[in-house]
Amino acid sequence: GAAELGPYRHYMQKEIFEQPRAIADTLEGLRSIAPELFDGAGQHGQPGTAAWRVFKEIDTVLILACGTSYYSGCTAKYWLEAIAGIPTQVEVASEYRYRTSVPNPRTLVVTISQSGETADTLAALRHAQGLGMRHTLTICNVATSAMVRECQLAYVTRAGVEIGVASTKAFTTQLAGLFLLTLTLAQIKGRLSEESEEQYLKAMRHLPAALQAVLALEPQVISWAEDFAKKENALFLGRGIHYPIALEGALKLKEISYIHAEAYPAGELKHGPLALVTSSMPVVTVAPNDELLEKLKSNMQEVRARGGVLYVLADARTNIESSEGMHVIRMPEHYGPLSPLLHVVPLQLLAYHTACARGTDVDKPRNLAKSVTVE
Ligand code: G6P
Repeated sequence: GAAELGPYRHYMQKEIFEQPRAIADTLEGLRSIAPELFDGAGQHGQPGTAAWRVFKEIDTVLILACGTSYYSGCTAKYWLEAIAGIPTQVEVASEYRYRTSVPNPRTLVVTISQSGETADTLAALRHAQGLGMRHTLTICNVATSAMVRECQLAYVTRAGVEIGVASTKAFTTQLAGLFLLTLTLAQIKGRLSEESEEQYLKAMRHLPAALQAVLALEPQVISWAEDFAKKENALFLGRGIHYPIALEGALKLKEISYIHAEAYPAGELKHGPLALVTSSMPVVTVAPNDELLEKLKSNMQEVRARGGVLYVLADARTNIESSEGMHVIRMPEHYGPLSPLLHVVPLQLLAYHTACARGTDVDKPRNLAKSVTVE
């Protein structure tokens, strides 16, 4: 009811603004899962715990999920390979369950699910178990769900009840869980120096405050949304770990505003989507200052040269200014490896405000369900 919504117009907006709290609660909940990370610098690993024994045995990760949860898995692949050095595969659950794959019993199968009841993800989990993969972990928002019951290990996120069909706080809390999983595996594999462990944990503890500062950018996002509401197509670009964030931004926009949106890794622009770029194609670019920024800038030039209008999410260290055909929103800080978790927030707000401007049923978009428990 209206009382529960407080100052917000929709559950989706409320849930976007709950993210600092949801992340803080999730980290607090996960503290007990990885006490060696939080409480005792130097005591590497807790031999004897169930998770420790499982993590010691695995040499690859296979992530299975659907929808927004699939994109959090795609993001985590970059962390797991770069920080923990663990080969990681991410697959849409409905594809994995029906194809002939090559099972590796030393794989950690990770299912990601807000509800813990998605039929395809559960079936993919059972399929993997049937192929002899016994090591399973779920990152799930519902402690009493089938997913938690059926997996060997669980990282339960504490996003709280999510009502909006378009997932927001579940996504960022999944990312927090996946980052913690990465650090835990990195530590067990001996790839985490005490110094970098301390830096990563510090960055994680700072997340709620960092998210709060990003949410304060809402008025600038609203002015982008006024432009987007008049469009029928949009392109989202990102590179590296921000490519899945571009995918998630496009998914949010299409789900609730019904604008056709697609995401591309910016280097692929020249292999197809550039043909679509005209002055009526807004191009959202996720452009934090990382090692790929210079490459991304030349992709942006390709868009400008065709008259495409750029909407750029830059961070505090990105040297790009607003100019003709280029609208820049600058994030308050540079976030290092946690950058994807922060950059998704303005994209959630963009989809939300664009949908509001178009007058769609934001919390219950047509044809979609919050939890898909049948195939
Ligand atoms: C549905 C929802 C999405 C969600 C997906 C996976 O399609 O509308 O928001 O991402 O299911 O759901 P899960 O509960 O498994 O994360």
